[in-house]
Amino acid sequence: INVAIGHRYYSSPPCHYGICIDIDGVLIKGKKAIPEAKSALQFLGGENKLKKKIPYALLTNGGGMTESKKAEELSEILGVAINPSQLTLAHSPMCQLVPKFKDSEILVIGGSGDNCRIVAKSYGFNRVVLPNDILAWKPSIWPFTKLSENDLKLTRKLDFSNVKIEAVMVFHDSHDWGRDLQIVSDLLQSKDGYLETLASPQELLKQNIPLFFSNPDIIWSNDCLLPRLAQGSFRLSLEHLYKKITGLQIKYSLFGKPEEVTYKFAHKLLEDYSFETSGHHSPNRKIYAVGDNPDSDIAGANAFGWTSILVRTGLFKGDNHHLHPAKYVADNILQAVEWMFHQEE
Ligand code: G3P
Ligand code: MG
Repeated sequence: INVAIGHRYYSSPPCHYGICIDIDGVLIKGKKAIPEAKSALQFLGGENKLKKKIPYALLTNGGGMTESKKAEELSEILGVAINPSQLTLAHSPMCQLVPKFKDSEILVIGGSGDNCRIVAKSYGFNRVVLPNDILAWKPSIWPFTKLSENDLKLTRKLDFSNVKIEAVMVFHDSHDWGRDLQIVSDLLQSKDGYLETLASPQELLKQNIPLFFSNPDIIWSNDCLLPRLAQGSFRLSLEHLYKKITGLQIKYSLFGKPEEVTYKFAHKLLEDYSFETSGHHSPNRKIYAVGDNPDSDIAGANAFGWTSILVRTGLFKGDNHHLHPAKYVADNILQAVEWMFHQEE
């Protein structure tokens, strides 16, 4: 069937459902594809008995690079072309903070080199500070990290005694926990966001500097035997240390799965992508979600009214999860998409 919409032609019949797929532990492990991932994506791309294209998007709590870079990296690993507009990374919905902080100095934590500065700028944040910019200004802030020449080249040369930092945004896993715990803790205790100053007890209570995290996961799955510590572990460490040091509980906002803000973002993205590729809008589209982490992928999908599928290729291994049971448990992503197809066709 060829459907003509305006000047565009689409070769697949409209599809009334769609699927959001987690990345780590479902499609890849470390830098390697999970064996069934390619066939599963090809199945969704139309290699099924009905030759039907099923719109899919990828929804991950990972990040640390732009959506375009991640799409390139995944296409290479999976051997299937992934479009950047199919991707919700942990930090993607944080673009919604741009209107408030467009021209404010913000401290962005996470990732390597200046990748997260590039990501933040791509969203429209114009003034992005990285921890290494601060070390370049005053190395004794965290005297145990020595900046290489290359690190220095990537820094912004600022006099932080005159720089008011107005928000902290954790975009990705910290690659230097000591440095980042110290700097965030310093900043939250500072007077009005000026480093090397100290707020009054009353100001400390108010916590004038908002703090945002992009990924609540405590653990994640790569090619190691035991789960790896994720950004949520860094947050717990910060909370605990800050409480010990100041007696105060830090206040923060969360993005990423299982937060509703992220599901709303991913839902719209899938709908826009489906419209872009099929010319078909389906406001009441049924959405399936596949993941390996019950606490984020399944909890989030269930709460948002999506049909959840838990796979056994990542963190989860058992029959079903006691607290966040999935609608279906599959051995892998291929079984998951086949089950969905069977439900719908
Ligand atoms: O650090 C990334 C990890 O927490 C989760 O990635 O793709 O399983 O959501 P993903
Ligand atoms: Mg996962």
